[in-house]
Amino acid sequence: MNETIRDLSIPNDWDRRGLPGWCYHSEALLELEKQHVFREHWQIACHVSDVPEPGNYLTMDVVGERALILRDQHGELRAFHNICRHRGSRVVADEKGTCRNALVCPFHGWVYNLDGTLRGAARPRSFPALDKQEFGLIRIDLEVWLGFVFIRFRPGPQPSVAELMKPFEAELSHYNTGEMVPTEGIWTHTSPVNWKSVRDVDNEGYHVAMAHPALQDLYGSTYYDEPFVKGLCRSFATFNPHAGRRWSVDKYVRLAPEASHLPEDLRKAWIYFGIFPNAVIAVTPESAQFYQEFPLTTGKTLLRGGIYRYADESRAQRLARYLAFRIDRDTQSEDVQLTKWSNEAMTSKAFHGFYLSDLEYGVRTHHDHLRAVLPVMRLDEAPDEQDVAAVNARLATKS
Ligand code: FES
Ligand SMILES: [Fe+2]
Repeated sequence: MNETIRDLSIPNDWDRRGLPGWCYHSEALLELEKQHVFREHWQIACHVSDVPEPGNYLTMDVVGERALILRDQHGELRAFHNICRHRGSRVVADEKGTCRNALVCPFHGWVYNLDGTLRGAARPRSFPALDKQEFGLIRIDLEVWLGFVFIRFRPGPQPSVAELMKPFEAELSHYNTGEMVPTEGIWTHTSPVNWKSVRDVDNEGYHVAMAHPALQDLYGSTYYDEPFVKGLCRSFATFNPHAGRRWSVDKYVRLAPEASHLPEDLRKAWIYFGIFPNAVIAVTPESAQFYQEFPLTTGKTLLRGGIYRYADESRAQRLARYLAFRIDRDTQSEDVQLTKWSNEAMTSKAFHGFYLSDLEYGVRTHHDHLRAVLPVMRLDEAPDEQDVAAVNARLATKS
């Protein structure tokens, strides 16, 4: 493992403290995070196979915004704010569905074309003439990358998704994720913690040996994390030769078919591709998934994701996928517990912040990315709540 640490060129003198506790329960900071960390950064909305046919749509309500992802009659994916231009109602009420060739607002019946333009208001003579573009649905940036659909609510500092994700492209391309199909659709859970506590746990593998018995059995000492660099981090592990003390791991390593569709070095690999601020695309030889978290309040987080499989999977692949899912499911529920214990400390006067291992450098580099977006997070002591935004603005002009 020491080899790995050296390879990642972690500086000797890095500051081992994470973000101060106040950052995990300040309402004023949460508002800044929603705007600058979430709305202004790319977010994974779904996979192309979640909306496969013309007219299919999916909605996503996060950080005070409502997104509508829609496949138009020509097969093109589009994203709009799910906000009627009349009085702001949801144009589409369901989380997922199919429309024929128009969207009809359920409030007063304004009708929109699938390209977002206004087809017409109900009782149009009660209005002056309405411009079809001007009163069309408001577009949201959308970009598809290897089958994953990314949206961005506001312009921000990141380049295009293709450019951002370039370092991952060659490796992930082997999995042909763009051709995959959903297993069960998009899942969501809520967890009673700050969103950063979720990410902090996910950003380091130092806890795997202690807290994830099945993963530890599977990975042994093969697991390593790479820190966040330019908004991306990566974790990698392979089945270790001694895996199999636990039932699901034993079955998985023995029954998983040779993944001949992948290059040699990926045939037994589980890889996690982390994307700042809040998402991971993960692959095993038999599946791909994304997962992410969004703040609901300072102390409540929406966990969301989807799992995808090969459309032509064999029975053996299907069984392996099921066993991998079991290992992953246990791991996720173990992580939820860890996030709660970590998050609870943030309001205690006795807690003086993290003191991080070299193996938790990923936590530090994620926090550094957050501090770069919101410099107020550099302050050990919380400003008064009403001053957080102004102090952040002042620090931002200095940096
Ligand atoms: S709010 Fe949509 S038609 Fe009135
Ligand atoms: Fe974990």
